[in-house]
Amino acid sequence: MDTEGKVIRCRAAVAWKAGEALIVEEVEVAPPKAHEVRVKIAASGVCHTDWAYLHGAGRGMEMRPFPLVLGHEGAGVVESVGAGVTRFSPGDKVIPLFLPQCGECECCLSAKTNLCKANWSKTQQGVLADGTSRITCRGQQVFQFLGVSSFSEYTVALETNLTKIHPDALLQRVCLLGCGVATGYGAAINVAKVESGSVCVVFGLGAVGLAAVMGCVSAGAGRVIGVDVNTDKFAKAREFGVTECVNPRDHSRPVQEVLVEMTGGGADYTLECVGDVEIMRSALESCRSAWGVCVIVGWTELEEMRLRPFHLLMGRTLKGTYFGGWKSVRDVPRLVEEHLAGRLKLEEFVTHTLTLDQVNHAFQLHAGGQSIRSIITM
Ligand SMILES: NC(=O)c1ccc[n+]([C@@H]2O[C@H](COP(=O)([O-])OP(=O)(O)OC[C@H]3O[C@@H](n4cnc5c(N)ncnc54)[C@H](O)[C@@H]3O)[C@@H](O)[C@H]2O)c1
Ligand SMILES: [Zn+2]
Ligand SMILES: [Zn+2]
Repeated sequence: MDTEGKVIRCRAAVAWKAGEALIVEEVEVAPPKAHEVRVKIAASGVCHTDWAYLHGAGRGMEMRPFPLVLGHEGAGVVESVGAGVTRFSPGDKVIPLFLPQCGECECCLSAKTNLCKANWSKTQQGVLADGTSRITCRGQQVFQFLGVSSFSEYTVALETNLTKIHPDALLQRVCLLGCGVATGYGAAINVAKVESGSVCVVFGLGAVGLAAVMGCVSAGAGRVIGVDVNTDKFAKAREFGVTECVNPRDHSRPVQEVLVEMTGGGADYTLECVGDVEIMRSALESCRSAWGVCVIVGWTELEEMRLRPFHLLMGRTLKGTYFGGWKSVRDVPRLVEEHLAGRLKLEEFVTHTLTLDQVNHAFQLHAGGQSIRSIITM
């Protein structure tokens, strides 16, 4: 491509300060260094985690460095590659990954986890392997959220944080496999390991929760109870296969008591897809003693969860998951193929398609509970 080796001037939504609206600016995206790839982003989903890092920084979330380009649920096409890159070529369709898979660290070599540690602390701090980001704006370095920054027309990712996908994939849909849909789906099938005929409860019916419902249904769950305080979420949840809906606000007693009664002693599997420590406790207490499994998917970094060890002593298991247990580079292309084969929904998660200029509107729709996923198209 004629941009190879040159700085690209393009548009990106810059978060200058925590808690403030994003500003669409002209930015410069430097060419990829060794073992990096520059990607032309086609589309990006808007995940709760983007919103939470902007508005919850220093509260539930660790403070991230600003200015920052958010977005971690993107898909695009390789524009150029840095020295030493062999797995990618210009024109390849790719999904950037906030969770790498280097294939070499002790976690990558273990079948027990997907938590690759390659450059982990650096990408969490918004920089690539050499300690700098590739994006600048008005002469200032702009940090790259989780090493991705998909709210930009172009970005640069480490080759370990990128995966090549099937050329038939529609980028405006498969971007959702970069975070929310992969996470919820994997939480049910890889982490909870939902069994056929079982009773499941999913707390929070946003994209992550609906994807968890999809995982429960594909594993053959007998009942899937959906819990949300926003009753507007129930119609879509039923389309995804939720068999019963519960609004905690309809009840004067704790929702776990309602659910234990509904399930005759508790669910086999519960999945928390909200990110609220009180609901995490409800999720644990809603699964049955002896073998119930509770999986925490919702995100919080600084808050503490209260629990009674008695609930664990009585045989319940409490687990958490990052990215649904998927080994990212290996498994995301497989999920794309499952979607292309018609076995994994994506279209159904998309409620709004917006432009980069409308990114703050996408956040408002999200915070107001009006969207499941907004897709920003570049
Ligand atoms: N573990 C991971 O790797 C990972 C990856 C992606 C997202 N997440 C986290 O998953 C969570 C869900 O993400 P999302 O994008 O689907 O968010 P979302 O905001 O779209 O969905 C959350 C849902 O929870 C509901 N809710 C709020 N309060 C509730 C309550 N008290 N009881 C029941 N339901 C309630 C909301 O109405 C909403 O429908 C977030 O915390 C996000 O940060 C985790
Ligand atoms: Zn690794
Ligand atoms: Zn996310």
